[in-house]
Amino acid sequence: MKIAFVGKGGSGKTTLSSLFIRHLAATGAPVVAIDADINQHLGPALGLDEAEAATLPAMGERLPLIKDYLRGSNPRIVSTETMIKTTPPGEGSRLLRVREDNPVYDACARPVELDGGTVRLMVTGPFTDADLGVACYHSKTGAVELCLNHLVDGPDEYVVVDMTAGSDSFASGMFTRFDITFLVAEPTRKGVSVYRQYKEYARDFGVTLKVVGNKVQGDDDLAFLRAEVGDDLLVTVGHSDWVRALEKGRPPRFELLEDANHRALSRLQSAADATYELRDWERYTRQMVHFHLKNAQSWGNERTGADLAAQVDPSFVLGESVVATA
Ligand SMILES: Nc1ncnc2c1ncn2[C@@H]1O[C@H](COP(=O)(O)OP(=O)(O)O)[C@@H](O)[C@H]1O
Ligand SMILES: [Mg+2]
Repeated sequence: MKIAFVGKGGSGKTTLSSLFIRHLAATGAPVVAIDADINQHLGPALGLDEAEAATLPAMGERLPLIKDYLRGSNPRIVSTETMIKTTPPGEGSRLLRVREDNPVYDACARPVELDGGTVRLMVTGPFTDADLGVACYHSKTGAVELCLNHLVDGPDEYVVVDMTAGSDSFASGMFTRFDITFLVAEPTRKGVSVYRQYKEYARDFGVTLKVVGNKVQGDDDLAFLRAEVGDDLLVTVGHSDWVRALEKGRPPRFELLEDANHRALSRLQSAADATYELRDWERYTRQMVHFHLKNAQSWGNERTGADLAAQVDPSFVLGESVVATA
């Protein structure tokens, strides 16, 4: 399952992603955690100190390796230079699994021990001005999108992405790559406006979007969110002293998280698990091709000097069956 946490800066994306990752790890499920937020903070939220977080390898700096591995022997992709963030897999491409070891994880993932289990953590690396807005070719989140497009994941294994709700994820196909997207919103007009914008983009792509209210205090906050987002409101989280203690550098054991917040995390997991029944590999593949052709036309062909539409393998559908035959 692939799960994204999006929302306004400061809303609590990283906090809630990290709690959800801890929750999944405690159930014993395999988890790949990916930090694709502008403020790279998932490592510390998972308990790494500054020095440890600083040594995490940046996916954005390992794009050539990632491309080279994923390209495999796919004859439609003639070089790594012509491979852009939306280049879809086809016959001969190498695919990724959540549980395996592979050169991409060797280069880009680091194990993080949490109460009850170890997760793999991957980070895009810090964003610079050039990464925001129009810099498409070297886009940091492009490394994540490539990995998601080459990933065959099952129902009881999780990829959790902490992600900025920005133009980058809309221009590419990033926002369509998830079984469920949790939009973290504080009970404020700004929090809710990000939800509206996301919903608008997501509308035509069958994106499952649920709102997680954060820093919700009392009935008035709850009533506000209900009125603004209706049935899309999945669950709310209040102020957490557990989170505050972690931020003071005194991380309590995960069992000690407030009961209400443990229950909220279980709700998130059930909602995510329920979406697996809606999993449609054909649509998933079709959408990656759609965004690839769009990117090819708007900048990719010009930037690479190649006809990137020719990279599309028309008979390829990502899914368990391709892994089985490979
Ligand atoms: N439920 C919560 N209880 C206590 N503190 C919280 C909660 N949610 C977020 N915070 C705090 O709010 C700040 C912003 O949260 P963060 O997760 O970094 O936001 P984002 O990733 O969306 O920018 C952090 O200092 C975080 O610890
Ligand atoms: Mg963050």
